[in-house]
Amino acid sequence: MTKTLAVANQKGGVAKTTTVASLGAAIADAGPRVLLVDLDPQGCLTFSLGHDPDKLPVSVHEVLLGEVEPNAVLVATSEGMTLLPANIDLAGAEAMLLMRAGREYALKRALDKLADQFDVVVIDCPPSLGVLTLNGLTAADEVIVPLQCETLAHRGVGQFLRTVADVQQITNPRLRLLGVLPTLFDSRTTHTRDVLFDVADRYDLPVLAPPIPRTVRFAEASASGASVMAARKNKGAEAYRQLAQALLTHWHTGNPLPTFTVEM
Ligand SMILES: Nc1ncnc2c1ncn2[C@@H]1O[C@H](COP(=O)(O)OP(=O)(O)O)[C@@H](O)[C@H]1O
Ligand SMILES: [Mg+2]
Repeated sequence: MTKTLAVANQKGGVAKTTTVASLGAAIADAGPRVLLVDLDPQGCLTFSLGHDPDKLPVSVHEVLLGEVEPNAVLVATSEGMTLLPANIDLAGAEAMLLMRAGREYALKRALDKLADQFDVVVIDCPPSLGVLTLNGLTAADEVIVPLQCETLAHRGVGQFLRTVADVQQITNPRLRLLGVLPTLFDSRTTHTRDVLFDVADRYDLPVLAPPIPRTVRFAEASASGASVMAARKNKGAEAYRQLAQALLTHWHTGNPLPTFTVEM
């Protein structure tokens, strides 16, 4: 059974794309066949995995519109993962899908066709709660919400949770919210912990462990178009490897993921 995980938060800059690329690489390292889906018209995931979004002959855009079979769009990445890439064309998909019946199911229909080729699918959602993110959540079994631990990080979480509840009621009853993943985490500041405690408490949400520490290596890796896992020996990559192992165990046993206890 293919496991499909969405990484979503309508806020930009919270490390969604970094999480998808790093988790994907760590899961692929452990053996499973991994497909990553770029659902962001910015194409940052596509770029960070070594493909120039502007040079793609076809992308996830045509797949969502049903014009091209998903297999014809897949590209390989150097980390052994397969990518369903995106580029700016996807910005138009939003408007075009709005006029289609069953628009929230476009990605799910495409992924169903690929199910026997992959063990794990990880979806990088765009920074909005529009039809693309609804497609990501409708196609997913589970969702993780990266959260940057800064002032006002909780703003928007309530709205995000309402969207998840809507999806669970209308398009995807099996969707499970695994929890928030602390990103860009600096354990030295008490402020960081206050933010986490506030969010976990206010929304009664699990905070996943381990938190992903802020490391300069990530910014360097994404700017160079090289996978973040290429810089393997850093605290961030190590944290993502632990999270990948926890997810694999969770999928194998059905037990919940380890959570981060916020100490006050
Ligand atoms: N753990 C980290 N440490 C330092 N920089 C990070 C870390 N995670 C992500 N970044 C940087 O933060 C920026 C935003 O990350 P990104 O993954 O693109 O977020 P999003 O997809 O949510 O917009 C990028 O420049 C990325 O390199
Ligand atoms: Mg992104």
